[in-house]
Amino acid sequence: MAEGFPGEELAEHFAEEAKDELGDAGKLARRITELGGDPVVHPKDWEAGAHAPWTAPRQDWADAEGIVEDQIKAERGAVEAYNNLVKMTFGKDPVTYALATELLSDEVGHEEFLENLLAKPRK
Ligand SMILES: [Fe+2]
Repeated sequence: MAEGFPGEELAEHFAEEAKDELGDAGKLARRITELGGDPVVHPKDWEAGAHAPWTAPRQDWADAEGIVEDQIKAERGAVEAYNNLVKMTFGKDPVTYALATELLSDEVGHEEFLENLLAKPRK
């Protein structure tokens, strides 16, 4: 469906990333619980704490470039959030710092993959 994009590569990326993000959410929820907090579990409350606005799925599924651009914005929001968490926990909470660093690295990788995809020449 991804016009002009290597559709299978994009689909594979999003399927893998969805699994990764779910795993990351579990790690964060566990850490929040360990610290005595309550993870935000209701989807309606997620956007308030996000660093990128929720974006409705594109109506035009053939607009792969737009889908990728939307996702890059979301990745950048995640990078900003984890970067803030890394700075906040540095020298204070090594366990959360290690987790934030791991997740930051994942998100930078996601962003880079998508940026490289956009930069590839398309037919
Ligand atoms: Fe991501």
